[in-house]
Parts: sequence; structure tokens; C-alpha cells
Amino acid sequence: MIMIFHMTVRSYPMRKTHLAAWRAWRRLRPRFYSSFVGASSGPGPGDGSEDPSAVSAEKPPHTPVMLKEVLQYLDIQPAQVVLDMTFGGGGHTKAILSTVPEVTVLALDRDPTAISLAQQLAKEHFGRVKPILGRFSELEDLLSNMDVKPGSIDAVLLDAGCSSMQMDEAERGFSLSKDGPLDMRMDGDRYPDMPCAADVVNTLDQQALASILTAYGEERHARKIASAIVEARRVSPITRTQQLASVVAGSFPPAVVYARKDRLNRPAHVATKTFQALRIFVNDELNELHAGLCAAQMLLKPSGRLCVITFHSLEDRLVKRFLRGDDLSNLDHFSQRKQGTKKENLSHEKRDGSVCWLPLRRKVITPEKDDVKENPRGRSSKLRAALRR
Ligand SMILES: C[S@@+](CC[C@H](N)C(=O)[O-])C[C@H]1O[C@@H](n2cnc3c(N)ncnc32)[C@H](O)[C@@H]1O
Repeated sequence: MIMIFHMTVRSYPMRKTHLAAWRAWRRLRPRFYSSFVGASSGPGPGDGSEDPSAVSAEKPPHTPVMLKEVLQYLDIQPAQVVLDMTFGGGGHTKAILSTVPEVTVLALDRDPTAISLAQQLAKEHFGRVKPILGRFSELEDLLSNMDVKPGSIDAVLLDAGCSSMQMDEAERGFSLSKDGPLDMRMDGDRYPDMPCAADVVNTLDQQALASILTAYGEERHARKIASAIVEARRVSPITRTQQLASVVAGSFPPAVVYARKDRLNRPAHVATKTFQALRIFVNDELNELHAGLCAAQMLLKPSGRLCVITFHSLEDRLVKRFLRGDDLSNLDHFSQRKQGTKKENLSHEKRDGSVCWLPLRRKVITPEKDDVKENPRGRSSKLRAALRR
């Protein structure tokens, strides 16, 4: 298993590593189950893109990111049908329900805890909220079972990553600042055989770990960190979040541990990118995001609107390319990061000439300064809005 992983990952340069890792992960999954070390408990993701030192102090729990902008760009009309692909704490959905009369919201989330909140909300708004438990990649089947037809949705929101609720729950293992089992699965309750972060750090070989940290965390010191992880687990398995944070910190001089800065120029723990990488890998987040975008493309009506909020550059790059019409299933396209900035590639037409998306704003939208002050967790968020042609 480990050999297959790093042979696949190693043979591509950095940009290709990214897609190669997805593919390796898909291939690895069934094998992974059999070597499961069993250190997991409960569900969970984790947002490594967020500064862990800041997270514990930050509230409120469900402040929706860029709410004003989302409502503006989705421009939902009375009695329309909206798909909230990432219900989470329900912040965006609640705002939609309270601002648009007679709207119906299909509320998807892979996390059963989020769906139980959606069920509560459904009771309060009889017939207007339809909770759906599942992943982006399962959406097509789930909606077809509900008799929702392609091309029938007016607006789609995808607010990627994990929720404050998930981050704040130490037992889910997302947070660097709270000790908990090293889990990070968003839907571990539904898929108990799915490997958790502890399985990854205790099972994969050094090169495979380094590849994950590079591909999903864009971590410059991936090899050093992977080597420290492998050393540490020889002594005892790494099963706790703060144990992993200490192992990573231990591979740097003490002065470096908080030397990195987040976007608000606050100290960020040196393990932040390691946590991000593991969370993305464990939850297969980039593949899922791609599946979500494809589902939105299929489900939206002509002139239907899409808003996508992302929290790190890997996600935003993927969304940008998708909306531009790049074929993301093709390694070559995905590796053309620099070519993507050439003028001829800025056309919003698919290379085969068909046109799917019209950007509602050419440039990516970022939160206003005051909003970041109020909700620091949204500081690294980026919004892209587009119209389905
Ligand atoms: C950032 S939160 C959404 C917050 C929400 N917009 C709010 O205002 O409360 C992202 C949510 O998306 C869910 N999620 C992430 N990836 C998913 C996927 N592939 N399929 C379904 N839900 C997913 C997570 O479980 C999490 O609850």
C-alpha cells in the first residue's frame, strides 16, 4: 500500500502531486482498511487553514462567513429552491429562510450532527427545509431518490471545509489547540472503517507522509516533519492531537514554533499546515469539492447562481479552474498553474467551446475588514460567484 502511494506521488512534480495524491488515495482506501490501527473515535474534520492558537479564543460558534455577499450574489427570489451543500451550523440557511419568503432549502451535510440541527430547523420551518445526510459525491443519487431533477435548482451555496462546531469539539480531533483523539473525520460515525488521522500518521511511510504534507499543506518542511513523526511513533503510536502538535514542534527549534504568522499577522503554530494536510487527506476534500462543483453544474437551472466559499489556496485554485472550464480530471490541465495566468486561458469558455459559467464578479471576493474583526475565522475565506449558462 505504502509503496503504491509514494511511487505514484513521487513521480510527478509538485502540481501533479496534488492530483496524483487523490488518485493514490482512491486506490489506497480498500487496502487502508485492512491495516487500520484502530486509534480512532467519533467523527470529525479539522481546519488546519485556521490558526489553532486563535481558534480557542474565537466565538461566536456559527457566524456565517460573508453572509451579506452570499445573499447578494445568490439573489434568491421568493418561492425559489436553494441547495445549501454545506449546512454546518445552519448559519447561511437560517439567513436565507428569514430573508426570502416561501423559499425551500435542500440542506446537505456529511456530518450527522449538522443534519440533526437541520432536522430541528425543518420542524420550525415546516416544508421549507429538507435535510439530506451525505457527501457531495453522493448528492446526485440522493437527490434523484428525492425526485429532484437535473437543472431544477435556482441557487447553490457551497461553504467548504469544516464548521466551527466541528473545530470546537475536542473529541473530533480537528483542533491543534484542544487535546483530543487524532481523528479529523467529518463523517466517521457513518463510515467507521474510514481511516482517521491517527491511522495515516501511524501507518504510512515517511515518504508518503511527506507527500501528503507537501500536497495538501503546502508545507515546506514536509520531509523534516514526516521524519519526526516516524521517529516518534517508533516509541509509541501518535493518537492525540496535542501529541502530534508536540512531535511536529519538537522537530523545530523552540523559537520557530510560533514564528509563522496567520493572515491577521498573529502567531500560528508550526503544526498548522500538518493538521490542514491530514484533514484534507482524511476527508478526501479536494475530490469531494470537485464532485460538489460537478453536482452544482448538473443541478442548477440556466441562469441559476452558485456561490463557493473556500478557505485555502488549494480549494480556491480548484474552484477558479472549474468555473473557467478546465478539465480537472486531467493531470495535465491541473498542472498548468502558470499557464493558467496567460491571457488566452482567462476566457470563461470551456476548451471544447461549450460555456457553462459566467462569473458574477471577475475577481475573487474576500471579507471586509470589519467582518474579519467580528468573525476572525473567516479571515482567509474567498468567495467565487457564478451564473449557470
Ligand atoms: C464551513 S461549514 C458550513 C457552515 C455553514 N455554511 C453555516 O453557516 O453554518 C462546512 C460544512 O460542510 C460539511 N461538508 C464538508 N465537506 C462535505 C462534503 N464533501 N459533503 C457534504 N458536506 C460536507 C461539513 O461537515 C461542515 O458541516
